[in-house]
Amino acid sequence: MEEYLKKGIKDIITKFPKVADILNEYNIGCVPCNVGSCLLKDIVEIHNLGEDEEAALMAKIGNVIYPGRGIKIPKVQRKAKSKQIQYSPPIKKLVDEHVLIKAWLALIPEVIENIDLKSRAGRQLILGGIDFIRSYADKFHHAKEEDILFKYFDPNLDIVKTMLEDHTTARSRARALLDALEKGDERGVVEHLSGYKELLSEHIKKEDEILYPWLDRNLSMTQVGELYEKFDKADRAIGEEVPKRCEKFVEWAEGKITKKKNSRKEAVK
Ligand SMILES: [Fe+2]
Ligand SMILES: [Fe+2]
Repeated sequence: MEEYLKKGIKDIITKFPKVADILNEYNIGCVPCNVGSCLLKDIVEIHNLGEDEEAALMAKIGNVIYPGRGIKIPKVQRKAKSKQIQYSPPIKKLVDEHVLIKAWLALIPEVIENIDLKSRAGRQLILGGIDFIRSYADKFHHAKEEDILFKYFDPNLDIVKTMLEDHTTARSRARALLDALEKGDERGVVEHLSGYKELLSEHIKKEDEILYPWLDRNLSMTQVGELYEKFDKADRAIGEEVPKRCEKFVEWAEGKITKKKNSRKEAVK
């Protein structure tokens, strides 16, 4: 079994497809991840499973690889101490930025329901959303991940590559969204808005729950300090206007949507 710990998970799944079902049971997304060459031991380390969960998972996988042999399951060496997520200050800053992005994502279904590209106000709402995606989610937030945080890690790590691919897909969604808006193509706007929401919601969940805790466990105290300083410098370079404008946009959009909801309720009465 020891030798399989050092094998790529994709190869193991190809040889033993049942392993994919076992990983799915533990919400480990190696099957949908299309980059994938993580080793089996990395999967356990990155997902920070509890000791009992790890033992049960490894026993199930061992049983698929060596059916009926009752093989000894090696314990994976790891740095994590508990399942409780405690972010370092710079990583916490990124998690806090996700909160504003999630607030905009949460509005998207209502934005779609009330879509009106014929009115100036309707177009303005979508344009504001695109500005938020580009200025806040991308230039303010993703840039710190790409230009600073990820630079501390091996660029060939699957988990980092997957996150970068998500950023690239998000950028093309934003481009396609603007294009659809300019053409007055309502179906296109709806398609790209909901595609963006789905992509970014999943992306943020992966970062908050898997990537960030794992990165944090692998950063030294000195690196954490450096990161904090570098994030601060990056924020100062962008200036206060961008995050303020984007916060205001989300507040404004929330207000607009609440008003719409209330007037709908009134009409039903
Ligand atoms: Fe990201
Ligand atoms: Fe992020």
